[in-house]
Amino acid sequence: MFLDTANIKEIKDATKMGVFRGVTTNPTILLKENTPRVKKIKEILDLSVGLVYVQCIGKTVEERLKDCEDILSLDSETRIGLKVPMDITGLEVVKLLKQKNPDHRILGTAIYSADQGIFAALAGCNSIAPYINRMSNNDLDPYKAVSIIRDFIDERQLNCEILGASFKNTNQVIQTLASGAHSVTIPYNIFEKMMNKELAVSAIETFNRHGEMLKEKY
Ligand code: E4P
Repeated sequence: MFLDTANIKEIKDATKMGVFRGVTTNPTILLKENTPRVKKIKEILDLSVGLVYVQCIGKTVEERLKDCEDILSLDSETRIGLKVPMDITGLEVVKLLKQKNPDHRILGTAIYSADQGIFAALAGCNSIAPYINRMSNNDLDPYKAVSIIRDFIDERQLNCEILGASFKNTNQVIQTLASGAHSVTIPYNIFEKMMNKELAVSAIETFNRHGEMLKEKY
């Protein structure tokens, strides 16, 4: 699991249990924090939360490669992952990044279809992020896409993981995993909804109350 946020409080609250492998960000997520990218990413890295994915921007191959260099200069390559948007330009960026250093961890992002995901996997992305909620909003079937990509990866034994992204409810997360995603990146509010379910919270309160009653009685 990854946490899809750049909010320091959310990252601190969610990562102390040790269930998240790291954090994913994108320019929109960073913009919400009203802090320059460099400063915010360094703050996140200071929390030592595992892998921190930062997305490159730019229209051309050269612009994206330059932005990747800037991102990588923030820390060691073992703690920073590069998110590369997956259009034709993105495929070339992945190829050139991997040629330069096969150890770069690359997450192909903005995946809206199986074909796009398949090319991203073939290009050498270590992981790819299908946008579940955004696909649903556009009458596309995200679960079918995840399942097709997973079959393609498994049949050819490609070294690529599916990291489901873009979630607006907990059911989407579970359906994505059930469709073959290796893992997911979720916003903090979805994490809360997954764990603090009303029924569970109320059952735990009842157990606590009965436990106290038992102590008083005996
Ligand atoms: C993460 O990699 C994606 O950028 C993110 O999950 C997109 O989420 P959104 O569709 O809520 O913007």
